[in-house]
Amino acid sequence: MAKKIACVSFKGGVAKTSTSVNLAAGLKIQRPDSKVLLVDTDPQGSVRAYFGLRLKDKADFAGFLIDGTLANDGFHQIKTDGGDLDLFLTSKRLASLEQELAGKPKQDELLSVRMRKSGLEKIFDYIIVDTSPAMGLMNLNVLTFVDAIIIPVNLDAFSVPTIEGVLSNLETLKEFYDKVPDILGILPTRLDSRSSAEKGALEGLRVRYANKIKIFDPIGSDAGVKRAAVKKQSIYDLNVRASAQYEMFTTRVLEQMSGV
Ligand SMILES: Nc1ncnc2c1ncn2[C@@H]1O[C@H](COP(=O)(O)OP(=O)(O)O)[C@@H](O)[C@H]1O
Ligand SMILES: [Mg+2]
Repeated sequence: MAKKIACVSFKGGVAKTSTSVNLAAGLKIQRPDSKVLLVDTDPQGSVRAYFGLRLKDKADFAGFLIDGTLANDGFHQIKTDGGDLDLFLTSKRLASLEQELAGKPKQDELLSVRMRKSGLEKIFDYIIVDTSPAMGLMNLNVLTFVDAIIIPVNLDAFSVPTIEGVLSNLETLKEFYDKVPDILGILPTRLDSRSSAEKGALEGLRVRYANKIKIFDPIGSDAGVKRAAVKKQSIYDLNVRASAQYEMFTTRVLEQMSGV
């Protein structure tokens, strides 16, 4: 059965997409024999935009979720050093999920149902989910589906409220569902190591969540991360400075997941 991990934050620009892409690519490189699926649940189509792909006939995540259909020509694929990484891209149709599902049952657990029925969970070893910052029906489906979440944060004045937003959401879910995802950890992203304010914010997070939530080693601010996206590649293909940091992060995630 696939291990399912989502990058979640109700704030935009915290590197959810960058982290999802580079974690998925990192898993494929560190575990070349495993099958990895990166799912784009952001109606903006962030992963599609990242790799500059067009949907055409290949599998559309929105169609899969809403109608249960899967295209015969399979998923989009990206080559990594570890082999092909499968991408489940989405169309704008996902933006009208609420209307599309009006009156239908299991709206909050539709993703779990579709994944189970399609057998995708059995085919893949890892399913990585990129999310949108909106707390709506789509993200509720993500949270009822995944085993674990990673919370990426920027080291600004909003990092604590952003984290607390996700935590309180999980607390609310606990009242209604038997199972809520584990928190693998908080990933500080785009750290400017010359900024004492950012280093202070990082230290503040470590103190605040000590013994409660793992704070992963931060990903430094690196123009190479943006450059990789512009070149439509994972950072490992360009071997930028943040590559080693994301590689280490991937190793930590694998360690953590073996305990989930
Ligand atoms: N470590 C980093 N250093 C520099 N820029 C980064 C880094 N991580 C992400 N970015 C850039 O920050 C912007 C927002 O990242 P993105 O992954 O799209 O965030 P989100 O999905 O949370 O909205 C993008 O332009 C991305 O290239
Ligand atoms: Mg995004």
